Amino acid sequence: MTESRPRAGRGRRRDRRVYLASHPVLFALLTATRRVPVRRIGRTVLVHDAAPFADALRRVPLDRSAQRTTAGAARRATGGDGFLFDQEGYGHRRTRRDTATMFGTEGVARLRPVWLDVLRRRLAPLADGAEVDIVDVVAELAGAATAALLGVDVAAGAADSPGHALTAAARAAAATAARHHLPGLRWPGQARRDERATARAAAELARLLGVAPEEAARASVLAVASINTTMAAIPRAVAWCADDQWWAAAADAGSRDALVAELLRVTAASPVLPRVAAGPAELAGVGVRAGDRLLLVARHAAHAGRPAPDPGTPVPATVGQLVFGTGPHRCPGARLAHAQLADVLAALAPYRPMVTGARVDRRSALPGWARLTLRATVRAGR
Ligand code: HEM
Repeated sequence: MTESRPRAGRGRRRDRRVYLASHPVLFALLTATRRVPVRRIGRTVLVHDAAPFADALRRVPLDRSAQRTTAGAARRATGGDGFLFDQEGYGHRRTRRDTATMFGTEGVARLRPVWLDVLRRRLAPLADGAEVDIVDVVAELAGAATAALLGVDVAAGAADSPGHALTAAARAAAATAARHHLPGLRWPGQARRDERATARAAAELARLLGVAPEEAARASVLAVASINTTMAAIPRAVAWCADDQWWAAAADAGSRDALVAELLRVTAASPVLPRVAAGPAELAGVGVRAGDRLLLVARHAAHAGRPAPDPGTPVPATVGQLVFGTGPHRCPGARLAHAQLADVLAALAPYRPMVTGARVDRRSALPGWARLTLRATVRAGR
């Protein structure tokens, strides 16, 4: 078989569509202000560079109950009890310790058979020359892996697999909440309609999880955090890998991890972290006051925009890993996300698939694809 050489360009051009179509106002604002490391516009402070981004997450006192922040949403969802996002100090450290096994090497090894089974079944049609929608595959994978992470049996209807049902509910719960968090144009009355839709979606999620009411809120927070990022990250990374022809690196266990880190960097699945300052601070010479809204642009801090992904010359891990945040609240699911993407790329690589169709998801919480079809260019295993 003659290997195609990697070629940069097409992956980035396609990926830009997920931003332009799903959050045009926000990304126009971010692009217009990115040349300055930190920029104040009224009571909003936009943070673009790696150093002030890390400072904001490590040193600035943050209001973890503020409206229109991830932590505030978690605080309301858990009825004030708190779970990770909105916790601080000793309580936060204790929850991180209690959940460490769940997210560590052991936790990943326990969940791996669940997603490998989904990949084996769902990618098999590629061998017969059929198209596969990788978004639908990841929907099942993310839901099934999250149900296993939480140790729950999802009460799905006959029409859906349990994985699909959990993913649909978690995505609905996040979609309206995210519209509420981020700047953009809204119709009159939209905020109230969004709050009602968020409450309905949260109730459906709790019903599906079927856990005791006191457990439901925490489980829902975790399901939303896990499923929405996975649904955004993996299909975008797969499209980029196919478009720039990185399948040889994906097939090679020696370069796969570096490729995964690079693809997670350039796709920056959680591109903007909305936070609110709880006290005074300074970021790259710009004063911050209590109550200021901070838009921490993970996408720019982690150098998602350039250079193009290259497993041979990856950007330093300290920069690339900023897509997972930093400091005490750094994403505990990073290891899981890496392992899942590595297995997805390894399972696809023998087929050297190409993208045959892509449709942007205009309603999702995070920029992503609604449909991304692949077809093998090589009949693997034949
Ligand atoms: C590519 C996939 C993912 C990305 C880009 C991502 C990104 C992030 C970011 C930026 C944060 C905020 C960190 C901070 O404030 O410093 C975060 C927090 C968090 N993530 Fe992820 N995440 C991903 C996957 C996951 C998965 C798979 C799970 C669960 C299985 C997860 C669970 C969480 C939780 C629970 C927190 C809150 C941690 C805390 O506040 O202590 N994430 N994630």
